[in-house]
Amino acid sequence: MTNSSEDKTATLKGIIGCSAAMQEVYRTTRLCARSSATVLLMGETGTGKELIARAVHENSPRGSGPYIRVNCGALNESLLESELFGHVKGAFTSAFENRTGRFEAAHGGTIFLDEINSMSFPLQVKLLRVLQEQEFERVGDTRTISVDTRIVAATNRELLEEVENDNFREDLYYRLNVLPIFLPPLRDRVDDIDLLVNHFIDKYATENECDPLKVPAETMQILRGYSWPGNVRELENYVERAVVLSTSGVFTPELLPPHVRGLAPVRLGIRNKKDLETLCEELVAMGIMQSTTDDADLYQKVVSLVERQLILQTLKSCQGVQTKTATRLGINRNTLHKKIEEYGLNEDVR
Ligand SMILES: Nc1ncnc2c1ncn2[C@@H]1O[C@H](COP(=O)(O)OP(=O)(O)O)[C@@H](O)[C@H]1O
Ligand SMILES: [Mg+2]
Repeated sequence: MTNSSEDKTATLKGIIGCSAAMQEVYRTTRLCARSSATVLLMGETGTGKELIARAVHENSPRGSGPYIRVNCGALNESLLESELFGHVKGAFTSAFENRTGRFEAAHGGTIFLDEINSMSFPLQVKLLRVLQEQEFERVGDTRTISVDTRIVAATNRELLEEVENDNFREDLYYRLNVLPIFLPPLRDRVDDIDLLVNHFIDKYATENECDPLKVPAETMQILRGYSWPGNVRELENYVERAVVLSTSGVFTPELLPPHVRGLAPVRLGIRNKKDLETLCEELVAMGIMQSTTDDADLYQKVVSLVERQLILQTLKSCQGVQTKTATRLGINRNTLHKKIEEYGLNEDVR
């Protein structure tokens, strides 16, 4: 064991935030780290699942052993299979040599299976066996290999929902979900935003060899009010951008993208008809939509507005070249041409 037992309530190394929700995360992480049982990390993208996976490893008795990360969403089924389990020479056309898989590489340590929700059914079966018996075969081999590897898995989707939709095996779900840790979205821990902003300001000031930006209350208020669909990763990106772009040493609101400042039309989260009406009122107030008395029109109006903006902005960034714009948007050139006519965008681009 490391000396972590002396600061049970303290944060984990490199992980920022002292909201009640994060303190619960630290507490659970430390408790889970002590065992070798499988950990399932759940949370939206950018909430810190990878940081916690590493903390589980580092605070565990196997912390001095290997830590191996595999992103299950980044490889197709056959590549992922040989990445995880290895293969023998000749197992498939491009298998020129024997290859050790990541499970073997993680022997005595931890393997972090990121985006586990995107693993195919056949691989889920093979993984289930590793979880049950700690053994598997390399692709193309009959020899059984045993490993002592702690599994930490992460999902950015509600796995139980994936089980209900027949995208994820129920038996595997229960095998993985021994020690669940839930990473709360940033919008639910607004009080951590100050700390995170200052943490990233320091980080990027050091990296860019400049003085840390000062943050006026106005900017902080905007940051606290934003919905953060990309969570901490999104916040980190905006802070880095501000550090690089600032010429005044102050983190002024103008350094934030317009949609964060509430200037862009798209705001998600329509829960009922009233929300849609409120959104339309806001859009009218902002002068980007004409008011309407016809209720049935609301939906179509908002959709058209978003479509118009999307096309207009893409056209502008393609200097008005329609073929390029159509390719970027992934739509047919004739469709694009019709829409440009319909929305009268020719004038706007010129
Ligand atoms: N609590 C936190 N404190 C400091 N940095 C964080 C925190 N949560 C996330 N980050 C940073 O945000 C980015 C995304 O985190 P990551 O762990 O990759 O999220 P996820 O795996 O859930 O998508 C990384 O650069 C990470 O260092
Ligand atoms: Mg991740």
